[in-house]
Amino acid sequence: MAKTALLKLDDKEYPLPVMTGTEGEMAIDTRTLRATTGHIAYDQGYGNTGSCESQITFLDGDNGILRHRGYPIEQLAGHPDFVETAYLVIYGELPNATQRKEFGLRLRKNAAVETQMQKILEGFPTSASPMAMLSAMVSALPAYYPELATNNFEKDLKNFDLTAAIAISKIRTIVAMIYRYQKGLPFVFPKQELTFCDNFLHMMFSEPYQDHVPLPEVSHALNLVLLLHADHEQNCSTSTVRMVGSSAANLFTSISAGICALSGPLHGGANVAVMQMLQSIHDEGDDGTRFIAAAKSGSKSNRLMGFGHAVYRNFDPRAKIIGEACDVVLKKLGINDPLLAIAKNLEQAALRDEYFVSRKLYPNVDFYSGIIMRAIGIPMNMFTTMFAIGRAPGYIANWKEVASNPKGRIYRPRQIYVGPAKRDYLPMADRK
Ligand code: CMC
Repeated sequence: MAKTALLKLDDKEYPLPVMTGTEGEMAIDTRTLRATTGHIAYDQGYGNTGSCESQITFLDGDNGILRHRGYPIEQLAGHPDFVETAYLVIYGELPNATQRKEFGLRLRKNAAVETQMQKILEGFPTSASPMAMLSAMVSALPAYYPELATNNFEKDLKNFDLTAAIAISKIRTIVAMIYRYQKGLPFVFPKQELTFCDNFLHMMFSEPYQDHVPLPEVSHALNLVLLLHADHEQNCSTSTVRMVGSSAANLFTSISAGICALSGPLHGGANVAVMQMLQSIHDEGDDGTRFIAAAKSGSKSNRLMGFGHAVYRNFDPRAKIIGEACDVVLKKLGINDPLLAIAKNLEQAALRDEYFVSRKLYPNVDFYSGIIMRAIGIPMNMFTTMFAIGRAPGYIANWKEVASNPKGRIYRPRQIYVGPAKRDYLPMADRK
């Protein structure tokens, strides 16, 4: 039987429907609250607000559970094929052999970036933030595909398979181009015969007349890193994609906005901040005490990067997988990275500290991902763009849910105004 919550306000009672998700998570539906009571629901930062129903990802932060379309992240990570997980996230089912082949082919066919678009990149100073370049390049895509990105839900959904493939494949190519541009190296064209990750490594690291052939361990690690980022429910950047998409903005424009949101150090930018922190601990010969002490000050600018999560209150299952993979990958590649030992010591020190324990702050995915990326040759300033390649399937799947929801509304939260009360305009001469 459908449950109802009862809100009592000024001696009147208002029934509010209770919603239950697949895994038993519950919500009070407050949509009628304003119309019936004149009140809005206040929830700064939306920390306790369900902004949508979604079939893509289930996340239980208290128990460290993450599942895409029902499949536990641990099982997907056990067969690291980023393209397969991308298909699952976007289309809802694991692909059969034919679907996997066709999807792979669409990605291969749409890997190259138009020559004209290279000029956009070349307009940036080489010192520019790779995330700024990436979002600008992605936001330019509608100009090159006006027939696919029309800002009309119905028309754009008809071309969804193609736009989705263009987005995933080209974001990967653009990231490699940004790297080459910043290094002053010529761009390398994608090769149709290579797998998604090998093609990326080829476009990043091939020399003139000498194709880069990655070690299988490196391809494997890259697939794993990207896969672990594929989707993560209503995080800051994915919610941004949904919000922008809800205005009927096309897929590319919506993803570009998500990439901007991802760039912040409290979100995707944390993987860079973690490595900077570990590096300075290494350079100073410190044991991390200074960073832990500073993090406890409560200042947002001094947080222990790679620690804490808006939703996980037990452990981040991605951090567990990636932390274990770090040991395996570095061993296989014969790399002895002192930053790994520093990270492990820092983790142990924080996990013994009352401040972190009482606030349930644990390592998140960004705490160890940088160490793997560094081991496979990705420079630190490109880490957040790697996160963007990995998160593209999640952005795409969420945009599709918004675009194909016949009852969807434009995202438009409300506020409580706390500024000055009404006052009259003052001529300049009367102002203090
Ligand atoms: N270092 C020190 N204190 C922290 C940290 C941290 N990393 N994270 C949270 N706190 C404190 C916070 O100040 C608050 O203290 P108090 O109760 O005394 O006011 C308390 O812990 C609870 O904070 P919260 O409500 O759990 O934090 P939040 O939801 O506002 O923020 C977060 C979540 C991820 C932005 C935050 O934990 C953080 O800034 N972490 C460092 C940045 C980081 O690693 N980001 C990557 C997140 S995972 C990848 C992704 O999806 O983006």
